[in-house]
Amino acid sequence: MPTPNGATAARKRRRKAPWRDRQGRFSALKAAALALCLAPGATVAFWLVTGDLGGRPIKAALLWIGLWTVRFIMIALAVTPLATVLNWPRLLLLRRMAGVTAGAYALAHLTLYTVDQNLRLGLVAAEILHRFYLTIGFVALLGLAALTVTSTDAAVRRMGKGWGRLHLLAYPIGALALLHYFIQSKANVSEPVFLAGLYAWLMLWRLTPKAWRGSWALYPALALATAGAAAGIEFAWYALATGIDPWRVLAADETLRFGLRPAHWAGLAALALLLPALARRPRRRREPGGFARGLTPAEGE
Ligand code: HEM
Repeated sequence: MPTPNGATAARKRRRKAPWRDRQGRFSALKAAALALCLAPGATVAFWLVTGDLGGRPIKAALLWIGLWTVRFIMIALAVTPLATVLNWPRLLLLRRMAGVTAGAYALAHLTLYTVDQNLRLGLVAAEILHRFYLTIGFVALLGLAALTVTSTDAAVRRMGKGWGRLHLLAYPIGALALLHYFIQSKANVSEPVFLAGLYAWLMLWRLTPKAWRGSWALYPALALATAGAAAGIEFAWYALATGIDPWRVLAADETLRFGLRPAHWAGLAALALLLPALARRPRRRREPGGFARGLTPAEGE
């Protein structure tokens, strides 16, 4: 028969399972999110096994995992704004999962890079020191590692107010990850521009006074600013880092003759938030201190 201590430990372990909520109940939302977090890694592992990754499979896998690292950083940053706009605090349960996934993928990305360099650790270290985009990537990775190891409930309790300050690092980490992505993408920067637009939206939303966030009118304004920021970042990239005329790129952004461009997509993605802002779900009761019921700061804001 289990001792009372053994039973408590077993209950705690059950609660920690990523598909359970804090009360230890199965959560379909968390289980679905977990499956989505694992999907890119499982997909690339499958391609590696079936030989579907072309002539340099490790390089292809490292690119794929790098792409999903930056996407998960953005997803983790987007959870709090989305939970607010949708008025759906349970979404905050997923923030820690998205952040930890980004950390794990970043580590896998570095590991694949090391394997691609035939495990020559000295060479990897020298490359990180000498190539600017790798240095930036490495700093972002160190930052993500710090956030990942402090994402436990015990770390939140131990660090008190310092926890929130440390986790604000997620924003500069996002900027470094995007810069790393831009530099290695060279001339085709469609997805980095789109993600940079979404990042601009996240920053602007953060800077918006809390009282305005409930107003639907904020969201078209933010969408316009998002499209403008993405177009501006794209212009600056072409002006500073390529030999391509940035004015021609900007001219393409001002018309729909060339189809929808990354800045348009970023603006449209931001505009989509107008719908939930107009049809907000009824408010759920919140714990004193502003957290949704049963959430810790690692999960809530
Ligand atoms: C949080 C940290 C990092 C993020 C978010 C990240 C993200 C990315 C992304 C999005 C790409 C481009 C993928 C594509 O084009 O489809 C990339 C490429 C790459 N990353 Fe990272 N990365 C990170 C850290 C690192 C580190 C630490 C290293 C190695 C020291 C590294 C090495 C590379 C290399 C070698 C490439 C491919 C460059 C090429 O095409 O020649 N990254 N990374």
